[in-house]
Amino acid sequence: MTDAAAARPPVLLSPSLLACDFARLGEELHTLEQAGVPWAHVDVMDGMFVPNISFGLPILAAARRVSPLYMDVHLMIEQPERYLRDFAEAGADGLTVQVESTRHIHRAVGQIRELGKRAGVTLNPGTPLEAIRPVLADVDLVLVMSVNPGFGGQKFIPASVERVREVRRMLDDIGSQADLQVDGGVTAQNARALVDAGATNLVAGSAIFGAEGGAAAGVQAFRDALA
Ligand code: DX5
Ligand code: ZN
Repeated sequence: MTDAAAARPPVLLSPSLLACDFARLGEELHTLEQAGVPWAHVDVMDGMFVPNISFGLPILAAARRVSPLYMDVHLMIEQPERYLRDFAEAGADGLTVQVESTRHIHRAVGQIRELGKRAGVTLNPGTPLEAIRPVLADVDLVLVMSVNPGFGGQKFIPASVERVREVRRMLDDIGSQADLQVDGGVTAQNARALVDAGATNLVAGSAIFGAEGGAAAGVQAFRDALA
């Protein structure tokens, strides 16, 4: 382990609510809280940026009402700047925008921070990492997508590990303390390799909510893998 890696805080899990039972949203959030998970990942899809529609503001607001968890909102929507204020007001703590979804990524990141929220940037598996370099110093979180966004339960793209390693280098080079998050097909089996490559924050949907024994067991499997 390098000194920089040793100095990093413990890996944070951000379970993706996309895979939870929406009819029991409050209970699912409570289970996460009881399991000591501090974040919940909220996947917003508009049927345009990605070929699927998930949910939007009312679900985030409902989650916010019943849970103290940090709401980690991942916007997979065209021109997210149109809705940043609404998501901030609905209860987001962090807002992550796709670099491909706006012509003005620098402005979008600035707007998130002006709203008093933590700003994240993310990119699809086919987007060159150079696309995020201009805003790296301005973000609190970088998310490396390890599937093509749009659906839960997809297979992890193995080349993502190298992309995480490269983003880790890019962040360390500028002395950034930003979270380095990975999302898509993350499991207790590939978690270790991602953390070794420099990830500090793992999103997992089906691996947590689909775990035999429920979400608490899913969380425990990650803890065991990372111990
Ligand atoms: C994919 C979403 C992910 C997804 C992860 O478009 O951004 O957050 O819910 O789900 P799993 O862990 O099942 O791949
Ligand atoms: Zn996501």
